[in-house]
Amino acid sequence: VIGVRTIDWVDGAVEIIDQTALPQQTTVLRLSTVDELVAAVQTLAVRGAPALGVAGALGVALAAGQHGQDEERLRHAVHLVETARPTAVNLARGAQRASARLADGPDAVLAEALAVRDEEIASSAAMAALGADLVTDLCGPEPRLLTHCNTGALACVVGGTALGVVAELHRRGGLGGVVASETRPLLQGARLTAWELGQLGIAYRVAVDGAGPFLMARGAVDAVILGADRICANGDVVNKVGTYAHALGAQRAGIPFLVVAPESTVDMSTPSGGAVEIEDRGADEVLAFRGTRTAPPGADAVNPAFDVTPHDLVTAIVTDRRVVRLDRGERL
Ligand code: MRU
Repeated sequence: VIGVRTIDWVDGAVEIIDQTALPQQTTVLRLSTVDELVAAVQTLAVRGAPALGVAGALGVALAAGQHGQDEERLRHAVHLVETARPTAVNLARGAQRASARLADGPDAVLAEALAVRDEEIASSAAMAALGADLVTDLCGPEPRLLTHCNTGALACVVGGTALGVVAELHRRGGLGGVVASETRPLLQGARLTAWELGQLGIAYRVAVDGAGPFLMARGAVDAVILGADRICANGDVVNKVGTYAHALGAQRAGIPFLVVAPESTVDMSTPSGGAVEIEDRGADEVLAFRGTRTAPPGADAVNPAFDVTPHDLVTAIVTDRRVVRLDRGERL
C-alpha cells in the first residue's frame, strides 16, 4: 500500500501491516500491549532491521504506558522487547534509545520512539539517492540488479534500503531489470519484494535462491544489491541467509556486491560477524510450508535465519550518510 507506513503509532497503540498475510491480504494489525508487539516481531508480522528498530522503540513506549511506575514489570517488559529477536541490531538499539528516557515519563519515551521512526523515514530517502548514484557509477545506464530478501518499505517505515535504491533507479528511468530471489524458507522475496515491486509498477522476475550465482555467471546480472541486519566494525555483513552465497557468486562473476543499510544498522561494538548471535528459527519452517509438511516424518532441520558475508566480498556499503568502498580499502 504505497503511502501507508509499515509501522506507526496511531491513537495510543502500534499499527503494522501484517507481513505474514501478504501478498494475499493487506491487513493492519493493532498492537496495544507488549505481549502483542513481541509476538508480532517473533512471527515476522513486522520484520526487517529498520522496522524492527521502530518496533523496539515503540514497544518500550507501550511498556511505559502499560506498567507506569511498576519498575520491576517495566524492566521485564523492556527486556522482552529488546530480546524478541537477537540478530538485527536495530531492535535492541531502538528499545535502548527509548528506554533511556523512562525516567522522564511515558511522553518522553514516546517522543524518543517517534524520533527513531522519523529518522528511519529520512534515512530511506538519503540511501536511495546515494545508492542510485553509486549503482550508476559502477554499472552504467540500465543496470540489471539482483536483490535478496525484502528491503523495501515493508522492512522500514516507508521507502526502503536496497529496494529503495532499485525504486529510485526506476524513477530516474535507469533500471535495466530486477531479479528478486525468493528467500527460503519464509519467502520474503517471492511474497513481499515481488508485491512491493508490483505496487511500484516495476517489472521483475522471481528466482529460486540457488539460481542467483548461476545467473551472475551467465552475465544476466550486473550487480547484487541487498540490505543488512547488522554491519560489524570490520565491515562483515550479517543479513538474511542466502546473502553469503550471492556474495560468493558476485565475486566469482566479477560484479559489484552492494549493501545498503542505515547507520542505525552499523554496530561498531560488534567487531566481526563471528560475534553475532544468529537466530535459528527451528525446524518447522524448513520441513513444512504454511502448515503442510513437505519433509518425511522424522526429518530434522537446521534453520539459521541469517548468515555472515565477510567484508572482503563486499564492494561497498551505502548508508544514509556515506558510501564506504570496502573494495578500495576504505573502513567504516
Ligand atoms: O528475518 P527478516 O525478514 O526480518 O530478515 C530481514 C532481512 O534480512 C533484511 O534483508 C534486512 O533486515 C535488511 S532490511 C532493510
